[in-house]
Amino acid sequence: MSQTRATPQRPTAWWKEVVVYQVYPRSFNDSNGDGIGDLNGITAKLGYLQQLGIDVVWLSPHFDSPNADNGYDIRNYRQVLAEFGTMADFDRMLEDMRARGIELIIDLVVNHTSDEHVWFADSRRSRDNPRRDYYIWRDGKPDGAPPNNYPSFFGGSAWQLDPTTGQYYLHYFDVKQPDLNWENPQVHAEVFDLMRFWLDKGVAGFRMDVIPFISKQPGLPDLAPDQLAHPEFVYSNGPQVHQYLQRMHHEILDPYNAMSVGEAFGVTLEQAPLFTDAQRGELSMVFQFDVVRLDRDNWRKTDWTLPALKAALARIDQAAGLHGWATSYLCNHDNPRAVSHFGDDSPAWRERSAKALATLVLTQRATPFLYQGDELGMTNYPFQGVKDYDDVEVRGQWRQLVETGRVPAAEYLEHVRQTSRDNARTPMQWSADPHGGFTTGQPWLAVNPNYVEINAAAQLEDPDSVFHHHRRLIALRHQTPALVHGAYVDIDPKHEQIFAYTRTLADERYLVVLNFGTRPLEYALPGGLSIERAVLDNGSGDAVTAGATLLTLAPWQATIYKLD
Ligand code: NOJ
Ligand code: CA
Repeated sequence: MSQTRATPQRPTAWWKEVVVYQVYPRSFNDSNGDGIGDLNGITAKLGYLQQLGIDVVWLSPHFDSPNADNGYDIRNYRQVLAEFGTMADFDRMLEDMRARGIELIIDLVVNHTSDEHVWFADSRRSRDNPRRDYYIWRDGKPDGAPPNNYPSFFGGSAWQLDPTTGQYYLHYFDVKQPDLNWENPQVHAEVFDLMRFWLDKGVAGFRMDVIPFISKQPGLPDLAPDQLAHPEFVYSNGPQVHQYLQRMHHEILDPYNAMSVGEAFGVTLEQAPLFTDAQRGELSMVFQFDVVRLDRDNWRKTDWTLPALKAALARIDQAAGLHGWATSYLCNHDNPRAVSHFGDDSPAWRERSAKALATLVLTQRATPFLYQGDELGMTNYPFQGVKDYDDVEVRGQWRQLVETGRVPAAEYLEHVRQTSRDNARTPMQWSADPHGGFTTGQPWLAVNPNYVEINAAAQLEDPDSVFHHHRRLIALRHQTPALVHGAYVDIDPKHEQIFAYTRTLADERYLVVLNFGTRPLEYALPGGLSIERAVLDNGSGDAVTAGATLLTLAPWQATIYKLD
């Protein structure tokens, strides 16, 4: 039977030892000059990914979609988005990946569908349609107001009145993304079926979009005033979520030995182990938001400190504990660029700080997730006006906050320039050719003008590039079990500029030291630690002598040492 076809080659918990690379297909590589990245474009770049050394590609949604939210609104789960290619293109891409030893995980978006999905088209037809209960329908209040005060993440109410039947449907995201009703067992059957469809093709698992949101609050009571600014903490806390995921685990994920990573928006560090403790049988791991949202209040940019970053990482490690597993990432398609966010993207320090951040991401006790362009140190886009943005989130907030006069335009733009998701969505910078070599046509979203300096072709030629630093780090991680599984101890949690931690497995011990700033520093190692040798650094460190206990750290130095 095909059910176990993909399993034998993959050992248990294989996903702990991999490095994942996220591809956002719309912006990765355009093969036919229509300005939109596509599957053949990805296939053409598999040699590049193989050279980088990654093990797994996470592909953001590639399904048929009207693109209200760039594919996170799926119209048909068994069809490839026409702009991205055909199912034959998908099969060829997957075959080529697997021939190169690269596994593929795809995006499972099943908290909601597109309003153009046939399930919703049926559901909205009449109150007694057999698919009515695939979605969440409620009567309005006696005065006609929405059933409760839930806000949508993209602005306005999370309820939309549908004139055909006079009831409201729930949508946590865009009005074109109605939430599925997981209280209906038919919805489980449909989702499990589509998961099997892709697993039987040889896909190795799923990234699960806002998966904690699938269980809704009983009775859907109003949010309290203090819950309104961050509804995710309520939306993620429905009583059935663990039951649903355990069922998915037993019926689908476990039989296929599939990798699963849940987007744990609204899940606190205390709750994370409930999803990832292997003894409970739910998900392989989750994405916590504690690091990427360290300096965020919704669209607002706030400040972050190094001790706060270190504390978040230590807590993520503790939450994974003995029986769970964590993820390590600084960027994805919903966040600003890592080097602009946590490094220093000025010309003087961009490369060195991007390498330092790579060192951090790739030496955690967690599966590292790189986002396309991280390996080049790609930066945020120089956005000017609201017209430069494509994102449904920015457009929704602009209408709700700026056009209503609640937030001055200049203030909103100043923040969103640093926090917008579009920073990560500008096309990959492949070369110094027009539009960064991403397309021969007009790109769907402007390429960052710094592609002339920052591009893959130039970096492949330069052994000291950010790309080759990533390649070396990935290779080192692959050959060093202590960097994957070793215990993680932050040896100086309060230091405001130095981040130093050990990774220990049996008698193998490594020390990672990162200088998070442009000030050179002398750093005396805490008692008991002495260096055997430097294993890998980002090209900035002085040679160390064996037995050294005092380090002279250059700006943004990042070094992995082997300890005695
Ligand atoms: C999280 C996805 O990463 C994001 O891009 C999307 O807008 C929402 N979920 C809704 O699907
Ligand atoms: Ca194309």
